Amino acid sequence: MKKRVFSGIKPSGDVHIGNYIGAIKNWVDSQDDFGNIFCIVDLHAITVPQDPKILKEKTRELAALLLAAGIDLDKSSLFVQSHISAHSELAWILNCFIPMGWMERMTQFKEKSEGKKERASVGLFDYPALMAADILLYDTDAVPVGEDQKQHVELTRDVAEKFNSLYGETFKVPEATVPKTGARVMGLQNPLKKMSKSEGGEKNVIALLDSPDDIKSKIAGAATDSSKEIKFNKDRPGIYNLLVIYESFTGLPRQEIESKFEDKGYAEFKNELTETVVEKLSFIQKRFKEMMADPAYIEKIFKENVDKLRPIAEKTLENVKKKVGLG
Ligand code: AQP
Repeated sequence: MKKRVFSGIKPSGDVHIGNYIGAIKNWVDSQDDFGNIFCIVDLHAITVPQDPKILKEKTRELAALLLAAGIDLDKSSLFVQSHISAHSELAWILNCFIPMGWMERMTQFKEKSEGKKERASVGLFDYPALMAADILLYDTDAVPVGEDQKQHVELTRDVAEKFNSLYGETFKVPEATVPKTGARVMGLQNPLKKMSKSEGGEKNVIALLDSPDDIKSKIAGAATDSSKEIKFNKDRPGIYNLLVIYESFTGLPRQEIESKFEDKGYAEFKNELTETVVEKLSFIQKRFKEMMADPAYIEKIFKENVDKLRPIAEKTLENVKKKVGLG
């Protein structure tokens, strides 16, 4: 039996190379070794305001993008979170077991609500409970995430252990798997903050669907420093971030990259990085266009996968309800 992996991504904007390097690329690479469930987490997306029409479009677009990036439906499942209501139901039950103190420690809520806490939704605060439900419904062994989501997986483990100690063995306790490199791709303009769909502005982010010209101008304008050395040094966040992107896209060892650019300047390195990113994204974009040309295909995938996964989720939920005394 292959170990089961659960992964989620929000249809909350334009998917970027941070999402790709920190998560999607690893999902694709691990498909032969694990039984993967990929979920488009639209219920998580509405924790901040969304235009309904755009949210629906982005959900289809994200499915096409994941398939274009290499998700193989012979090996993995792909579905939309809101299509299986057990996610919301289990999240409510888990809410009643999670102490406020655990939630208040979550750094993502602090960052996302900074300066606007009074207006942030209860859903944004409660995001980790829904994420715990997503993961625990499917007896998940591992959750591959970028660094930003690691704390939420740790909370999921705590919730599972607490529930198991109160009601006996119910949930499998999952582990977070974080990539060795690229777990936190930073913004191009502000390399001190992570690259994000919703924050930092367009120039901070390379979207998977960006044109070659946009990629070129964004990389050319990326923050570096006055030193000339092209070396992996975390104390120089701008060039370090660009090198991590290059490393992730080429798969080359760090030493080889440093030797390759030993006598070269930032301009030459940025040109080479641009070519590498454009080449990879052009391939994904070509397949994306083919997928988007057949909307019925995406709908068919959603339906088939929900039919396959709903019984697993409902079985877990029924077990939990019985243990808690519901129904
Ligand atoms: N900058 C990043 N570097 C590495 N990994 C990242 N991830 C996100 N940003 C980076 C990983 O991508 C997966 C999907 O993320 P998500 O869509 O669920 O939400 P997020 O983590 O909140 O990502 P964004 O881009 O910042 O979205 P918004 O702005 O809408 O909140 C996750 O595995 C995440 O770790």
